Amino acid sequence: MSTTYISPLVPLGVQAAFAARSDPAITPTPKILQEFELKDRVGLVTGANRGLGLEMALALLEAGARVVYCVDLPEEPGDEWQAVRAYVERMGAGRLGYVSQNVANQKAMWDLGQMIGDKEGRFDVGIAAAGIAKVMDALDYPKEEFEQVLEVNTGGALFTAQAVGRQMARFGTPGSIILIASGSPTVAYGSSKSAVLQMARSMACELGPKHIRVNTVSPGYFHSPMTIPLLDSPAALAHCNSLIPLGRVATPSEIRGVVTWLASDASTYCTGSDIIVSGGLHAW
Ligand SMILES: NC(=O)c1ccc[n+]([C@@H]2O[C@H](COP(=O)([O-])OP(=O)(O)OC[C@H]3O[C@@H](n4cnc5c(N)ncnc54)[C@H](O)[C@@H]3O)[C@@H](O)[C@H]2O)c1
Repeated sequence: MSTTYISPLVPLGVQAAFAARSDPAITPTPKILQEFELKDRVGLVTGANRGLGLEMALALLEAGARVVYCVDLPEEPGDEWQAVRAYVERMGAGRLGYVSQNVANQKAMWDLGQMIGDKEGRFDVGIAAAGIAKVMDALDYPKEEFEQVLEVNTGGALFTAQAVGRQMARFGTPGSIILIASGSPTVAYGSSKSAVLQMARSMACELGPKHIRVNTVSPGYFHSPMTIPLLDSPAALAHCNSLIPLGRVATPSEIRGVVTWLASDASTYCTGSDIIVSGGLHAW
């Protein structure tokens, strides 16, 4: 299976400068932005009917991906997703696909990965962004709700990573898996996301020899449907803003750069890492 990856053996940076010095036939050309490009890559993003997942799917396409499959619960994607697809079409970028699926269904996720691999002939990027947050008092947290949060946030992240990782291993090509975690301390949601942090480290160690990288991104407070209940009044928003060194809750588009970098060859030596995007909230 041929790929368009920039080989680590292709001289970049200072090595390229040295190579050009000894070979006057080489025309020096800037390469750094090219390293961020996702030309012809195939990706999947869960929870991408809306919110941060949809932002990430659009970012991958803007960076050159051939196709990004969005996975979410509704049978049909919503207005926001439709608007993004129309925008992508007018841009002449790759395809935005939609698949209705529950990430907590392991077999269905594996089958979906297989279907995409069969159809596209490669699999390069997988982002697990599907998530639920049910905030309740720790001492009263009901068993069923606790299990559901773990099933979706932790189980769903694993099944997504498996679905895409199995295809990367099948094609024998490098890949980037990004699991969306969080720094939240709430008991069920925080526990489910802490497990995701360790999951990425464990998978990074196991999959490194296959050139499959696994990292997490930990967002702080972002405006999204998930945080509406938290930020639903001017007082609540002002309180939240006051906790953040940069003084404000993030806009969803502020996740784009980090995710595109992690998906791309600009981060080929980065695995088992957690990238925190919190406006400095974690720095206190
Ligand atoms: N918004 C924030 O401030 C924030 C902060 C830290 C982490 N996160 C994480 O970022 C990710 C995206 O969150 P968001 O803010 O965009 O929230 P969101 O609620 O807008 O999006 C989450 C999406 O996941 C989907 N989903 C839920 N359960 C699913 C399931 N079983 N199968 C498939 N899809 C399912 C939902 O339908 C929804 O579209 C989540 O993992 C969340 O925990 C968000």
